[in-house]
Amino acid sequence: MRVLAVYGSLAAGCALVVGGCGEQSALEPRSDAARTIETLWWWMFAVACVVIGGAVVLLLIAWLRRSRPGFPLLGEREDVATGVVVLFGIGIPGVALVALFAVANFAALDETEAPDPRTTAMTIEVTGNQFWWEVRYPGTTAVTANEIHIPARTRVNVVARTNDVIHSFWVPQLNRKIDMIPGQANRVLLYADEPGRYRGQCAELCGLAHAQMGMYVYADPPDEFRAWLDRMSGPRQAPATDAARKGERVFMNEACADCHTIRGTPARGEVGPDLTHLASRSTLAALVIPNDREHLGGWINDPQDVKPGNRMPALGLSEREVADLLAYLRSLG
Ligand code: CUA
Repeated sequence: MRVLAVYGSLAAGCALVVGGCGEQSALEPRSDAARTIETLWWWMFAVACVVIGGAVVLLLIAWLRRSRPGFPLLGEREDVATGVVVLFGIGIPGVALVALFAVANFAALDETEAPDPRTTAMTIEVTGNQFWWEVRYPGTTAVTANEIHIPARTRVNVVARTNDVIHSFWVPQLNRKIDMIPGQANRVLLYADEPGRYRGQCAELCGLAHAQMGMYVYADPPDEFRAWLDRMSGPRQAPATDAARKGERVFMNEACADCHTIRGTPARGEVGPDLTHLASRSTLAALVIPNDREHLGGWINDPQDVKPGNRMPALGLSEREVADLLAYLRSLG
């Protein structure tokens, strides 16, 4: 019974992995490139099922006939035994792997290749950092982090770089992974059939918080995208309340400004994300926590508790200072 329960939960787990990831599932593609990958995935899955099914049947036959010598029908000859081993151990796996390689190479690689820049409408630059993503829109002053906006139904050329170690940019519903390699710029196409939110994840072990290096791609209707980009290109909204003005002073006088940039202020740090429009993002710490007052406060007070290994230190600010800082940061829409 216990064995059955273990297999039951394993099967349920697999079903969840295969079908249930929703906004981060390669099996719910929202672009031609991702559909090609999905097709390839199903072919590989089908071939793997046939191969493992065949192996299980052979094992079963061997077990059922364990007290009788030789093969069923084929008898006991040595050369027949060798032939069976060569066929099932080398022949069939060889053919299956070569066929899958050919399909992957000729179908999936072409479709998911770095796009010809003449075929894309715009370029964005995404840079991997331990453990967050910086996003720039060349030709504008917009800089944001972890939440990438693109226009829907538009071919977007993504230039992927890294500031430190190797990361891998992966939005499974839209395209394949692309590694971010030190000293090199790689490219991948982002295209979404329809407006929506697509989750991505760093797909290369890059340190302690690798698993907490998520990102969202928002595909907006083109008008909304242009309005968003205009807003992101501007400087910060000047603080309008007393608390926010005090909070801005705390930000400039404490170490915050050494690591973060807020355009329109003297803060020019480049260690952490650009916070000019922080309040417009829906999450913090690369999707680890929602961007609300309570979570932002917890993050400022003890960043290592929220996301161990990230580079932000606790500054030991007073309750008053944190409250003013929150008023300020929450006003940066
Ligand atoms: Cu960045 Cu894993």
